[in-house]
Amino acid sequence: MHRFAYKGRELYCEDVPVRKIAAEVGTPFYLYSIGTFLDHYTKLKEAFQEIDPLICFSMKANSNLTVLKALVNQGSGLDIVSGGELFRAKKVGVDPSKVVFASVGKTEAEIEEAIRARILMFNVESVQELETINAIACRMRMPQKIAIRLNPDVAPDTHHYITTGTKANKFGLDLETAYKLFMESYRYPFLRFSGVHIHIGSQITKSKPFILAVRKALQFIDSVRFAGNPVEYLNIGGGLGIIYSKEKPQTARQFAEAILPVLRSSATRRGLKLILEPGRFISGNSGILVTKVIYVKKGKEKAFVIADAAMNDLIRPSFYGAYHEIVPVTRSGRTRSVLADLVGPICESGDFLAKERQIPEVVSGDLLAVMSCGAYGYVMSSNYNSRPRIPEVVVRGSRYFQARRRETREDLVRNETIVREVV
Ligand code: LLP
Repeated sequence: MHRFAYKGRELYCEDVPVRKIAAEVGTPFYLYSIGTFLDHYTKLKEAFQEIDPLICFSMKANSNLTVLKALVNQGSGLDIVSGGELFRAKKVGVDPSKVVFASVGKTEAEIEEAIRARILMFNVESVQELETINAIACRMRMPQKIAIRLNPDVAPDTHHYITTGTKANKFGLDLETAYKLFMESYRYPFLRFSGVHIHIGSQITKSKPFILAVRKALQFIDSVRFAGNPVEYLNIGGGLGIIYSKEKPQTARQFAEAILPVLRSSATRRGLKLILEPGRFISGNSGILVTKVIYVKKGKEKAFVIADAAMNDLIRPSFYGAYHEIVPVTRSGRTRSVLADLVGPICESGDFLAKERQIPEVVSGDLLAVMSCGAYGYVMSSNYNSRPRIPEVVVRGSRYFQARRRETREDLVRNETIVREVV
């Protein structure tokens, strides 16, 4: 569910015609429905109401400050993966006791900064990292909660680039090593072994892999608790899939109905606090990318619709072969459709937003919406081909604002100097 819909011939974001925004800010741009972000957050919160989980929005999916602030105001915590994300988290004034920090490569500087910020916990992914956090916490005389990230060796049915919980992946610790660490927690006097973390992958549409992984995590918790280690938190990560095309993902309610019985039989009875780290579920369908057709090039076999947005703006189609629905911003009434690739101006054959699609016939100047771009859209964009990064516009009801302006040409070279000594 999202709040992008046609009223008559025009596509609206909440109560604003997309065309009106395009006329003001130019194309291409990202467009976010704040109401949709909040709807999704609330749906998840309500579905798990009986156990009152901590929802930490995974801000790697969308780290726009306005988006974060809206979610934080609603009570959301944040899942961060870098010092940069911590900086943003602080900027929006999140309650630090609702911040969790994952990443296989946290640097000493990042660890120190996060301890100083009094985040809730680190999700620890290696023995060396554990030692480093302990040493820094000791130096700072600030005991720190940690969760051990388990690699439960569960393979969800998703793109191999976004599978994270199998032995072949770099994430987390195998159960044996993790168990040993809990048993030796006395060796890390400045760490509180408070939680267990799992995250098995992204865009997972079925509940079965989650159930398997949660069961493994609960068994693990039982075993370390039995050995006398208090574990307070179970963080089941993110990964909930959304509709891009014809997927039939679980709803928040169905997900909760699948997971809650597993927890009820074990975790809640033992007073475990549940943490969720959804990124895509909250943000994916909350944003679109609006682009304008520059040229239409009719080849022998298919047409190329050349748009002003490209792989540097949205890399998911090129990188993962991801499908994003393409719809007209204004329905033209033209009845013919064409088989076409929607491509950008970048000098790469991999530069496409859609491949071999039957799309309504378009002409230069037409506006197109690339749907479901609220997650891993802007955040993965780049300046490739010296293309300035595009604006992010937010809508709430009948009002819209530029939450990030378009980069200028000067922005492109702002951090560079021509080194006279070498030229
Ligand atoms: N927690 C951890 C530890 C993660 O690594 C991730 C995502 C999440 C939570 C949030 O996962 P989500 O709920 O969004 O599925 N760029 C890829 C997705 C990469 C996901 C990385 N980790 C894409 O565009 O599909």
